[in-house]
Amino acid sequence: MKFQRKSKNPSKIDEQTLHADMTSGQILEALLNDPPTVHIELGNPEGGVWRTHRDCYEFLANACSPGTRTLETGLGISTALFLKLGAKHTCVTPFDSEVRRLRAYCRTHAIPTRQFQLILGTSERVLPTLKGELDLLFIDGGHAFPIPMIDWYYAGSRLRRGGLIVMDDVQLPAVQVLIQYLSSDPRWEMRQRTVKWIAFERLSEGPFRDEWNDQLFYKPPQSDIPPNNHANADFSN
Ligand SMILES: C[S@@+](CC[C@H](N)C(=O)[O-])C[C@H]1O[C@@H](n2cnc3c(N)ncnc32)[C@H](O)[C@@H]1O
Repeated sequence: MKFQRKSKNPSKIDEQTLHADMTSGQILEALLNDPPTVHIELGNPEGGVWRTHRDCYEFLANACSPGTRTLETGLGISTALFLKLGAKHTCVTPFDSEVRRLRAYCRTHAIPTRQFQLILGTSERVLPTLKGELDLLFIDGGHAFPIPMIDWYYAGSRLRRGGLIVMDDVQLPAVQVLIQYLSSDPRWEMRQRTVKWIAFERLSEGPFRDEWNDQLFYKPPQSDIPPNNHANADFSN
């Protein structure tokens, strides 16, 4: 039997102690072999849960350690992964059935929820009400236009300098527009990209307060409006 240090206050045992005997790779393997079937009532995809590719979960796991301040829109395997890794995690998702299923899964799989803030609601309504700095943001909630942008706007502005944003489903138009914007902006640096997901690092900090004519997104080669004319551009027609 493994030696376990006794704590005067068991509730103060940190997540690192709880999972000291498992690597993040083993944690992920266990989750993928026996995932939380949270989407049975929501389209019932194969295996009962909508998911992304394994290498996306690997990227998230590598960026996450006990106490990492994470937020995700949407819920699923990723949620269980963040919790099992000991993140201080916030999840925003709109459906009661998936919340109940996830909570039951955590109970039966000894997944700690002490540092878990699970908010029932759509991200477009909930995110503007939240505060606090983040280390890692996973956008994988609503994919209709312009939900990914809303998620990025409200939660991305809370990322610290050096924080990471990961977005799933890069093939979808709403995500593509956001990628186009982030790729044009020197305050974001792409870290990894596959056919399914993408990760950027934030190289700035604080709220987003740009004037549109300062954003490279609007300048050539994306636009043929000369930069100096932007301030006086007439949009009345
Ligand atoms: C693709 S699934 C998430 C999969 C999960 N990230 C995983 O790795 O298993 C999309 C999730 O987004 C949720 N969702 C849909 N619309 C949303 C919205 N407007 N705000 C937040 N979450 C939303 C769905 O209920 C679902 O849980």
